[in-house]
Amino acid sequence: MKLDWSHTVLNIKDREKILNFYTNTLGFKITDRGPIVENGPEIIFISQNPDEHHQLAFVLGREDVGAQTSLNHLSFRVETYSELKEVKEKLDSVNHDYLPLCHGNALSFYFSDPEMNGLEIFIDTPWDVEQPQGIPWDPELNEKEALEWVEETFKDEPSFIKREESTKEFVNRK
Ligand SMILES: [Fe+2]
Repeated sequence: MKLDWSHTVLNIKDREKILNFYTNTLGFKITDRGPIVENGPEIIFISQNPDEHHQLAFVLGREDVGAQTSLNHLSFRVETYSELKEVKEKLDSVNHDYLPLCHGNALSFYFSDPEMNGLEIFIDTPWDVEQPQGIPWDPELNEKEALEWVEETFKDEPSFIKREESTKEFVNRK
C-alpha cells in the first residue's frame, strides 16, 4: 500500500483575504466552490496541479484566528529556481514577511497566510543531509551562487550526499 498525498482542508474566517492571498499572491486557481450541504458553510477548492481537483480547500466558519492550531505548516515544492524567485517577488510586492531558510536538501521560504497558517515553498537542492537543520540563506543570490553556497555550507557534514544516492537508500529502506 502506498498513500499518496492529495490535499488539505483549512477552516477559514475571512474569505476575501484568504482567496486574495492564495490566488493573487501565490497563483492558485479556484476550481470549484459551493455549500458543503444545503444551507451549509461554503467550501472553496483551489489547485495549481491539473491532476488534483484541489490541493487545498477552505471551509468558511473559523472563529478564533489568533489561536494556535495543530497545523504547523503546509509545504509546496517548485521545480525551478526562477519559480522560487517569483514567489519572493510576489511576497515582496505585497510586503509579506518571510524567512528564507536552507535545510541543505532544500532552499525554502517560510511564511504565514493571512490567518496565520504556516506555509513553506521550496526547491530541492541536488543534495541530501541529515535533518532537522536550517540556516538562513540570501535570496538575492542567483541560482549558481545559491547552490555554491549550499554546497560550501553543508559539504563537511558526514551525512551530506548527492540526492541520487539518498533516493537509492530510501528505496532500500525496510
Ligand atoms: Fe517543511
